[in-house]
Amino acid sequence: MVEEFKVGVIGAGYVGLVTGACLAQIGHRVTCVDRDEDRVAQLSAGRVPIYEPGLEEMVVRNARRGTLFFTGPGGLREVVRAADVVFIAVDTPQGEDGSADLSNVAAVAKSIGSVLAAAPREKPLLIVNKSTVPVGSGDYVSMLVCDGIDEAGGAGEPAEFRVVSNPEFLREGNALYDSLFPDRIVLGADSREALEAMRSLYDPIIAQSFPTDLDPRPKVSVPLVVTDLASAEMIKYAANAFLATKISFINEVSNLCELVGADVANVAAGIGLDERIGPRFLGAGVGWGGSCFPKDVAALRSVAREYDYEPVLLDATVAVNERQRRRVISKLQHDLHTLKGKRIALLGLAFKPNTDDLREAPSLRIAGELDSLGARVVGYDPVAGKAAARLSPGLRVVFDPYEALAGAHAAVVVTEWEEVRNLDLERAASLMDDPGLLVDGRNTLDPDAVRAAGLLYRGFGR
Ligand code: NAD
Ligand code: UGA
Repeated sequence: MVEEFKVGVIGAGYVGLVTGACLAQIGHRVTCVDRDEDRVAQLSAGRVPIYEPGLEEMVVRNARRGTLFFTGPGGLREVVRAADVVFIAVDTPQGEDGSADLSNVAAVAKSIGSVLAAAPREKPLLIVNKSTVPVGSGDYVSMLVCDGIDEAGGAGEPAEFRVVSNPEFLREGNALYDSLFPDRIVLGADSREALEAMRSLYDPIIAQSFPTDLDPRPKVSVPLVVTDLASAEMIKYAANAFLATKISFINEVSNLCELVGADVANVAAGIGLDERIGPRFLGAGVGWGGSCFPKDVAALRSVAREYDYEPVLLDATVAVNERQRRRVISKLQHDLHTLKGKRIALLGLAFKPNTDDLREAPSLRIAGELDSLGARVVGYDPVAGKAAARLSPGLRVVFDPYEALAGAHAAVVVTEWEEVRNLDLERAASLMDDPGLLVDGRNTLDPDAVRAAGLLYRGFGR
């Protein structure tokens, strides 16, 4: 029998919503709080405002069975009062100087403090930081909760709460799978009771003993990494920075492959079989984007500079990534020469497939550069099209890939959606200017098949 926790999740975005839905799914009673009333109204009506496969079904199922609730900022007080555990899952965007902007986390911590001041508790409240935050943020949250207690006239008793770091490792597009079948759960705290409580909260996931209709990954149990606050916070940044560096590494190798006449896909396969390296995140192309790698690598670089440490490897990781965007333009220029007056189709606009997220999407940067060079840029995305049109004034968005290709001098595969991978190449060639150029920014198409259809193929490092 699962011990039921009363859980509050503050911030109902990609992470908060997925966390809330999964905790409800494994047997807890969860209320998600968001300051965005429109988002709350949609969620309360059973509509999930983000595109994440399977999430809406899980939200609706748990809302119907009375384990998942939503409320606006006005509901925060009641949620915190009733909760055993409160997750902070608000956004921590990149500040102007590259550091993580903690203002949302700080606001939530203070509000929690003011609730604690008004209502003494029998058991300490667990405040769990799921947002990605730099080392020291656990202590910062403790301080701000105490400030909130003080300002609301409470005693500022630290016994009223415990702060835990529980970083999130989900990937957008695979969020439910990653949350229910994680590679590991990381918990950082300076309190044994808090860690024990968190272990019980996650027990159904650790033991893999919850009801699900997802295809489970056979796993005996999920490893738990129990550590101090600072190490837990650092694990999150180190993981993202390592993955971004791995991609930049293969992009560097792919550029060398082009010079020496090797095929990076074969090289990646060859090195990936070494268990110490592993086959994943060795996909060369236009580089990494998204809501997290760019801001998290920037935040880690910013922390390094705070300590007067020059993060040369992280600097290079970013420089290589910047250069990959530019290489798309060079490849187009190589075959088309001037891009003025040329029609270029961008296939896929979201920062990766299976998400509508456009934060730091390579497509937007590439579209902007092409537009400034005088090209006519037409973009297609099965999900993120409308939002992309709002974000990129120089981009004309259409909702059919073949409409994007009609009359195009070149097409660039920016995001490897299934609809893009399964393109009818003959039809594409017949619609494009002759001979159409296809720049495969994700090395996702079969070069021979593209050439057989009558198109000119340019990949990355192959
Ligand atoms: P998001 O922007 O999708 O969602 C954040 C939500 O928090 C928004 O709905 C916003 O309205 C709400 N919010 C902000 N301030 C609030 C406040 N004071 N009170 C109530 N609600 C508030 O962000 P996200 O992508 O879910 O990311 C959240 C955190 O998790 C970030 O630190 C991010 O780095 C980290 N993270 C994200 C992912 C991911 O794949 N998106 C994965 C791992 C970790
Ligand atoms: C990433 C991490 O994978 C998650 O573990 C982490 O929780 C999350 O960031 C976060 O902290 O927010 P996500 O940004 O959803 O997840 O997407 P990824 O699948 O990691 O892809 C990131 C970027 O790298 C995408 O632009 C993708 O196209 C690119 N990528 C990925 C490559 O260019 N090559 C690859 O081989 C893999």
